[in-house]
Amino acid sequence: MQTILVINSKGGSGKTTLATNLASFYASKKVRTAIADYDPQGSSLHWLKARPASMNNIHGANAAPAKGNVALHSRQGFVPLETEVLIIDAPAGASGLLLKELVRKASHIIIPVAPSAIDIRATADFIKDLFLVGGAHTSKAKIAVVANRVRMRSSNNYAALERFLTSLKLPFLTSISDSDNYLQAVEQGLGVFEMDDSATASERQELMPIVKWLEGQFPNRFGIRAEDKIASLESSKKWAAYRAS
Ligand SMILES: Nc1ncnc2c1ncn2[C@@H]1O[C@H](COP(=O)(O)OP(=O)(O)OP(=O)(O)O)[C@@H](O)[C@H]1O
Ligand SMILES: [Mg+2]
Repeated sequence: MQTILVINSKGGSGKTTLATNLASFYASKKVRTAIADYDPQGSSLHWLKARPASMNNIHGANAAPAKGNVALHSRQGFVPLETEVLIIDAPAGASGLLLKELVRKASHIIIPVAPSAIDIRATADFIKDLFLVGGAHTSKAKIAVVANRVRMRSSNNYAALERFLTSLKLPFLTSISDSDNYLQAVEQGLGVFEMDDSATASERQELMPIVKWLEGQFPNRFGIRAEDKIASLESSKKWAAYRAS
């Protein structure tokens, strides 16, 4: 089973949008797909509830801790044995033991980042945590980043994000546009791959590099030492702070 973790501790970076679109892509290809929602807000599970019965099935697992219950193993998150692709929609602020648990489960980790100085700084801190606390440098997981909610590629904010993502020495897979089609898809329990071809052609195209990377068709450039990674994150963060001032 391939386990794809979509994570960034920064809220609103696009985790659920990416997780649901990937789940719908695999389901549309008749791959046995499940989505594990670790977020108590349950956004992915709400998306599944809105999903038309006529669409290919996606199993939904509620993996969020029960209210008031902090024990990690008390979660009710059943994933069918025959699942071929499991997508994990992580909650905002995932850290500590939860982060470790999520990294341990993952074969692939995708980090969406929005184009703002605040998001860049928070993501630099998160990636540091992913390595130092989550154990990403010793895990089997392949890690990549994507830009999300990109309005204008000519904007200063996008230039800052592109420079940050390129500096990470992790595969920077694609830039996902800020598009109403993603909002419409989420409301209908669909992904852009299941909507009208002609209306969603550019969204499909911008998501394909992620699929290709997941299929192993894109080089994974991550091969540097954790200490070098932390040092490069510190300089990326300083640069983001400079941009914001
Ligand atoms: N590419 C996009 N185009 C348009 N809207 C988007 C895009 N990505 C995300 N959004 C919207 O931005 C909001 C936040 O996105 P999303 O819920 O996917 O983020 P998240 O990281 O899962 O948030 P949280 O941390 O709260 O779980 C949502 O309203 C979503 O529909
Ligand atoms: Mg979410």
